[in-house]
Order: sequence, then structure tokens, then C-alpha cells
Amino acid sequence: MTLTEELIAAIRNIPDYPKPGIMFRDITTLLGNPRAFRRSVDELVHPFAGTKIEKVAGMEARGFIIGGAVAHQLSAGFVPIRKKGKLPHDTVRIAYSLEYGVDEMEMHRDAVQPGEKVILVDDLIATGGTAEGAVKLLKQMGAEIVAACFIIDLPALGGRKKLEALGVDVRTLVE
Ligand code: PRP
Ligand code: ADE
Repeated sequence: MTLTEELIAAIRNIPDYPKPGIMFRDITTLLGNPRAFRRSVDELVHPFAGTKIEKVAGMEARGFIIGGAVAHQLSAGFVPIRKKGKLPHDTVRIAYSLEYGVDEMEMHRDAVQPGEKVILVDDLIATGGTAEGAVKLLKQMGAEIVAACFIIDLPALGGRKKLEALGVDVRTLVE
């Protein structure tokens, strides 16, 4: 099976979740499939093998799972970008919207140092609102964003284009 075929088979589609009209792409089935999970992480890591990535930033909650695995493979640190009110130290915060709602996210001010090379990792990009918020926080703290990486791209929702307009190199595994 090609990677694309394997990923499509491993991702479960749930209509009308969490709201009517949304086709939810559920990665819990992919995470529970040892081969699909391994191949996804390996493929995300591959372009950066041998390059110096200092930090991987991941967005709560699914970005923690994928980003944590990617950070480990790259021997990089991990920066959690969390929904508001969860981080205990000094934070920067930003409001954002996503395919099915609005929220605010935060990161610790000392989580990245100016000039550090960072990749952003999440399971999925839809409208790109979540990733755009994360890019803005990381840039505010002076990070050099090397790329933003996702397993799933929902191209009709325009997220990739939104990030590319901010000058971000976007990598995705399956549409
Ligand atoms: C999902 C997904 C991305 C975001 C993508 O997270 O994991 O972070 O939506 O949507 P967007 O491109 O339209 O911004 P969600 O906020 O549902 O949180 P979860 O990981 O806690 O389920
Ligand atoms: N986040 C935003 N849109 C989504 C979708 N359609 N499926 C899963 N996660 C999402």
C-alpha cells in the first residue's frame, strides 16, 4: 500500500461532528494503527533529518501527540501551544478561529529563544486559523519557523494558502 492509501484507510470520517455540516477526520484510528502511526511520523520527520531543528511546537491536543513523536525523532525540544489558562508561567496569548469555533491559545514567553529554528506540527490543517495563530505567537517570540507540518490537509478550506501567504513552508502527507 502507498502511504496515501494507508493513511486514507487509517483515518475515520465522522459526518456532522462536532457540528452539522462538518466532516470530522478522526485520527484516533490512525494513532491506534502501529504501522500507520509510525509511517506518518517517519514521513513528517524525513525532510528534516540531518538538519538542526531546535524545537518542535505542537498545538493542543492532537498536535501534542504527533509533535511529541516528531520532536523525539529529531532530538529536538517540544513547545506546547495550549488553549488558554493551562500554562502556569508568563505567556503570550492570541485569539483564533478554526473550522468549527473560536478560542484563544497561549505559549510560554520563554519557550523559544530568538533565532531558534522551529517546526510547527499538528495532525490537520483546515482553515489554517489554528496554525496561523501559532505562527504569530512563535514569530512574536523571535522563532525562525522552518516549516509547518501536518498529516492531513483539507485544501478546500484554504489553510495551506493562508500559511504560505505568511511565508511559511507547508508540508502535508495526505489531502
Ligand atoms: C483541530 C486540529 C487543528 C485544528 C485545525 O484541533 O487538531 O489543531 O483543529 O483547524 P483549522 O485549520 O480550521 O484551524 P481542535 O481545536 O479541534 O482541538 P483538539 O486537538 O483538542 O481536538
Ligand atoms: N479541525 C478542523 N477541522 C477538522 C475536521 N474536519 N476534522 C478534524 N479536525 C478538524
